[in-house]
Amino acid sequence: MATLQRAAITGVGGFVPEYVLTNEELATIVDTNDEWIQSRTGIRERRILKGEGLATSDLAVPAVEELLRTTGTAKEDIDLVICATVTGDMAFPDTANIVCDKLGIKNAFTFDLSAACSGFLFALTTGARYVEAGSHKKVIVIGADKMSSITNYADRTTCILFGDGAGAVLLEPTAPDAPGIVDSLLKSDGQGRHYLDQKGGGSLHPATHATVDAHFHYLRQEGRPVFKFAVRGMGGIVTEIMQKHDLTKDSLNWLVPHQANLRIIDAVARQADFPLEKVMQNIQRYGNTTAGTLPLCLWDYESQLKRGDKLILTAFGGGFTWGATYLTWAYDGAKRAAKR
Ligand code: UT7
Repeated sequence: MATLQRAAITGVGGFVPEYVLTNEELATIVDTNDEWIQSRTGIRERRILKGEGLATSDLAVPAVEELLRTTGTAKEDIDLVICATVTGDMAFPDTANIVCDKLGIKNAFTFDLSAACSGFLFALTTGARYVEAGSHKKVIVIGADKMSSITNYADRTTCILFGDGAGAVLLEPTAPDAPGIVDSLLKSDGQGRHYLDQKGGGSLHPATHATVDAHFHYLRQEGRPVFKFAVRGMGGIVTEIMQKHDLTKDSLNWLVPHQANLRIIDAVARQADFPLEKVMQNIQRYGNTTAGTLPLCLWDYESQLKRGDKLILTAFGGGFTWGATYLTWAYDGAKRAAKR
């Protein structure tokens, strides 16, 4: 699609809460151990937001604050905020709206986007369209999840996987041939919806004592099929976008995969014949933060990113939903990261 302008990521902010939940601590809660968790998932620890009255917006707010500070962006200039999340503070109003209220961002329209672990990728593409269309000039895209709020800490098959965290990026217009977001391939397949869900709290199963007794307020996953589809989904779409843009393992600088399982990340990199040292990874420290994983990778690796670097972001999650975005990095990450 020919566009008059391109959308570029011009800054990254991130936040993970202080509390570190280690594998050792989890082994005191459920029948598991550090060796199993590390060998099956790669995860050593994850961060948990502790404290009364704290929600997903409390993860997003410090991430956006840092983004505004390091990019020198005035609150009144923000004209759209999208928050990708499956753990919004409430059913409504939307969490992006709450984040703006807490930060005093008054000139933006806001909405949340729900696409589970693919949420950030879907929101990034959506935000980019507003910039490309010329209607919006400063768009914040947040990926934030307080996964601990829907995790069943009596279920060892899921509680070891998830953590809390948030990342945010700023999108701004640039020339059509300048570094920025080049292309996105996004997919959904509702046949996968039975493998990964949170059944309660919606119009199908509104919260009642019975739905709580049935644990419908927790995330539920059939790990093995999700694993298989995740490898196939991300591996296939990364290959497709690489071929479409004549990218090779040598011309691409970074693969940025959703952080659900280190074995999935390895398999996707292998499928694309891509060396692991150019694959962003932080699952070891944060676990799976759902919509937070991709912006938190960009946040952690910002100091290594150079203008013109070629990146592919890829994700897979509940729905099923999956996709890949090809972008070229628009600024000197080392200089910016020094401002934090
Ligand atoms: O981000 C959204 C997308 N989500 C994903 O991509 C997650 C995809 N799935 C996975 O990452 C993996 O399937 C899991 C990490 C969830 C599970 O790993 P697995 O290698 O598929 O293990 P499994 O479910 O096949 O279980 C193997 C064994 C079972 O015991 P038996 O039946 O062989 O005796 C489980 O009961 O491991 C047992 N097990 C555990 N043992 C110790 C399951 N969880 C644990 C645990 N500690 N935490």
